[in-house]
Amino acid sequence: MPDLPDFKKASRLRLALICGGRSSEREVSLAGAGEIRKALDPARYEVITYDPAIDLERLVKDAGKLDAAFILLHGKFGEDGTIQGLLDLLGLPYQGSGVLGSALAMDKHLSKTIYCQAGIPTPPWVLIEKGKKMSAKEIVSGLGLPVMVKPASQGSSVGMSKVVDVSGMEGAVNEALRWDERVVIEVFMAGREITCGVLGLDDLAPLPIVEICPGEGHGFFDYQAKYKKGASREICPAVLPAEVTKKAQGLALLAHKSLQLSGYSRTDMIISDDGCIYVLETNTVPGMTSTSLFPQEAMAAGIPFGRLLDRLMEMALIAHPRA
Ligand SMILES: Nc1ncnc2c1ncn2[C@@H]1O[C@H](COP(=O)(O)OP(=O)(O)OP(=O)(O)O)[C@@H](O)[C@H]1O
Ligand SMILES: [Mg+2]
Repeated sequence: MPDLPDFKKASRLRLALICGGRSSEREVSLAGAGEIRKALDPARYEVITYDPAIDLERLVKDAGKLDAAFILLHGKFGEDGTIQGLLDLLGLPYQGSGVLGSALAMDKHLSKTIYCQAGIPTPPWVLIEKGKKMSAKEIVSGLGLPVMVKPASQGSSVGMSKVVDVSGMEGAVNEALRWDERVVIEVFMAGREITCGVLGLDDLAPLPIVEICPGEGHGFFDYQAKYKKGASREICPAVLPAEVTKKAQGLALLAHKSLQLSGYSRTDMIISDDGCIYVLETNTVPGMTSTSLFPQEAMAAGIPFGRLLDRLMEMALIAHPRA
């Protein structure tokens, strides 16, 4: 990874840590921000925190005095290209993907469409839009059961349900519509769940894979299974045949490139019972507590949390140089 000269020379980088925000994942963001603050080397960074829910004007006002930003916002108005657009306008470098890639990856219908074009297997799906009804029977005759019903643009499994019979469809769709005007309904793939991060610019490379085993009582990796301590088991590196690891890592790289992403991302996948690997989605601002999935994978690749944050900021200065 080439270091940018001005990053090395700068005695201390004035870094805006942008966290909180207005999405359903506000609390997840704030928890991660606390850990990032602790892990950033104070000799290299002066960290100033901004919460877009209350601080946007202050961020705009301060932009000229800042060197870079670390976006730790998940979901709407954070992971979807909007804050990236603001930072582009302000000429402030930031880690990860730009406007286009962030917006594409946030929308599960569009990202699945792009996966198909790139030859990446993804579960068959239909898109339901608010006001345009489709009967439960119609959906089930096309996709079968069970299906996953999800808001098109959310994270952390918010608003998602697994539907196992026709009678559960309407409630699940209405729940997803509370969070988004577009809902993706896709075939539920039984199998092993894995996730694979990629890291780098020209030197983009996959990280070791994590296998996720949601605990008893969780039909899938739902919000509780994600954030309640001990609710899931995570095995990193995942114990998989070498050719399966290679294939899944290749899909994570291809998903990242097809969606026009930059710097890092984490692609969630299912290895179905028949051995096929299906891509569910790609996250452009993956969870960032020191024990989150992406940092675990980086650690398994020999990159401790603090060094991972340094690398992300080095790439920020290369990929989104100051205007
Ligand atoms: N088609 C599917 N088949 C089986 N399980 C699924 C499917 N879609 C989603 N899941 C389960 O639901 C979880 C959340 O789905 P997904 O990753 O699409 O949503 P998300 O809310 O964007 O997640 P994240 O927190 O990673 O942003 C997955 O980790 C998996 O456990
Ligand atoms: Mg996911």
